[in-house]
Amino acid sequence: MSGHEQQGGLFSETPSAEASIQQQIQALRDEIRRNDYQYYVLDEPSLPDSEYDRLFRELQALETAHPDLITPDSPTQRVGGSPLKAFDSVTHRVAMLSLNNAFEDTELAAFDKRARDTLGVASIEYAVEPKFDGLAITLTYEHGILTQGATRGDGYTGENVTSNLRTVRSIPTKLEVANPPALLEVRGEVLIFKRDFEKLNQDQQAKSEKLFANPRNAAAGSLRQLDPRITATRPLTFFAYGVGATEGVPVLSSHSAAMDYLVSLQLPVCKERAVVHALDGLIHYYQSIGSKRNDLPFDIDGVVYKVNSIGQQNELGFVSRAPRWAIAHKFPAQEALTEVLAIEVQVGRTGAITPVARLHPVFVGGVTVTNATLHNQDEIDRKDVRVGDTVSVRRAGDVIPEVVSVILERRPEGTKPYQLLESIQHVCPICGSHAIRLEDEAAVRCTGGLFCPAQRKQAILHFASRRAMDVEGLGEKLVDQLVDNHLVQNLADVYTKLNLETLSSLDRMAEKSAQNLLDALQVSKRTTLARFIYALGIRNVGEATAKDLERYFGKLDALLIASAEDLQQVPDVGPIVAESIVEFFLESHNQEVIAALIAAGIHWEETSGKQTASGALTGKTLVLTGTLPTMSREHAKEMIEQAGGKVSGSVSKKTHYVVAGAEAGSKLERAQELGVTVLDEAGLVALLAE
Ligand code: IVH
Repeated sequence: MSGHEQQGGLFSETPSAEASIQQQIQALRDEIRRNDYQYYVLDEPSLPDSEYDRLFRELQALETAHPDLITPDSPTQRVGGSPLKAFDSVTHRVAMLSLNNAFEDTELAAFDKRARDTLGVASIEYAVEPKFDGLAITLTYEHGILTQGATRGDGYTGENVTSNLRTVRSIPTKLEVANPPALLEVRGEVLIFKRDFEKLNQDQQAKSEKLFANPRNAAAGSLRQLDPRITATRPLTFFAYGVGATEGVPVLSSHSAAMDYLVSLQLPVCKERAVVHALDGLIHYYQSIGSKRNDLPFDIDGVVYKVNSIGQQNELGFVSRAPRWAIAHKFPAQEALTEVLAIEVQVGRTGAITPVARLHPVFVGGVTVTNATLHNQDEIDRKDVRVGDTVSVRRAGDVIPEVVSVILERRPEGTKPYQLLESIQHVCPICGSHAIRLEDEAAVRCTGGLFCPAQRKQAILHFASRRAMDVEGLGEKLVDQLVDNHLVQNLADVYTKLNLETLSSLDRMAEKSAQNLLDALQVSKRTTLARFIYALGIRNVGEATAKDLERYFGKLDALLIASAEDLQQVPDVGPIVAESIVEFFLESHNQEVIAALIAAGIHWEETSGKQTASGALTGKTLVLTGTLPTMSREHAKEMIEQAGGKVSGSVSKKTHYVVAGAEAGSKLERAQELGVTVLDEAGLVALLAE
């Protein structure tokens, strides 16, 4: 407790009142820290966001009233303090060295042999872990409190980025242990998860701010912000992979034991680590992580092998700046430079005309790449990709290769900016229909619909794909022939127009494979409503939405007659998706195809769905704003939905009620402007009871 006391002041607290406030503050901090740990380290959230926010605000309020009780390890101090002019430099107690790299199995074998020879052993135990593609940092905990965080810098001195690292929620500001060590330096990597990176770039775009090229750059830029309040808004995370200087730490005889110790202190350590034996074990781990690489939530550029025994590590020592006891085994590069030979276009299932760069063949990410998507005109403008440019191409796993950036220094003379609409003279290169770009859309589209053979082909391929009707054997080459020879004009023709004779007459179609396809078509007729909806290829309706629609409506007939308003009662269906669905089913051509498909024998089991017959708020849209006196926002939303209503995020003419609490802002103003009925919590309760 601080010794400070204000003698006799009118508002001074008695020592016992202050003690109880101190206790309240402590309890709130503990609860928030516990939740941060569960959410950011274990990835197992335990509190609803609203409850977390409430605890946080309560703590903030107490600390504002009692600023003398604020400590640097309080969760409130994570939001970022005042900006710095420059970062101080920090000398590392123990140098932060780098790793030698191996690309080939032979280099790896040489590493293992050298270590075995030096140690005079037949086989070595290794601790193995991913090589995170982020930035190395070191955290200093003194008596359990985070006192400093620094970048690696040149390995000997780095930059003091403590205020920025305090904003990273997975980094504990206090170690949860009864007897914390006097000193513990934790080494690890700061990074941004792939999904958070995408969201961050979307936000940057919405704010018309610079986009980041990849999660690593975004993490680096965020960590080196002089204003920690900006860093606090960036989704940085952290994995520990080593220990630096220590005092009063239990004896740790292996790297894996050191990592277990960090886990026991609630520091985030990646779960993908393992202990393996000998060269075989290393190669096996490399392959197993390699096959998971694209499904990992973060970018890695290889794996790291460390001799597990600390005794053996010490025996092996260092050469220049890298340990002899560890090595990074890198994955093949996922980015490479090549030349754009031409820019052509492809027409997709929904008629989107996508520009594609034809490339001088280049080996990247383990395969030879000859094409890369350029996405749309906005992307081309942003990167200013031109024919003749040297570009950096990225290929991550099964994802379509893309052009990351142009190497402007290598641009030849006489190149011209690329204009998609101009280059195709405003017509679809496949069917000659008008090509247009709608005002609020990035894509240029062919207006030919299913008249356009390219769209017809894509629609059939989508219809037959594994997660849709799952027709085995109906692949690209075959669909090309079916459409080009006018055998299949629409989706239903796939079931009604194909027979052994027509199929066997096609290129590369033996009778056996023709029969297999017919069998597969027969089998596919028995399906689920969700698959069928998804297979139709309705714009904005993916697999998840199709499942939601199935769950909600249960029957196709109910879905066919649903209005946009009805559709918006389905969880996660907003106005845009609802509009696409209504438009699709209004089209008489689509109605005919659906009828023909059902006549051809496609069937599924129908259910009664989840449509609530009618609640007090059926068909009503409400908007919640401000803080309600007793109900949390989640709770209010649940009650409204149970009564058949829908909660929307923004006020429009279609909003039936706005429920406003304390500190309601622009949404309340908007409601008043539009004359929408405004309710308070009591009003909402009365409405629900009707
Ligand atoms: S250990 C003395 N483990 O790789 C050994 N480093 O080239 C020090 N890195 O700057 C590093 N994942 O940023 C280690 N699991 C991991 C790693 C890792 C990524 C980075 C780190 C370091 C660089 C070394």
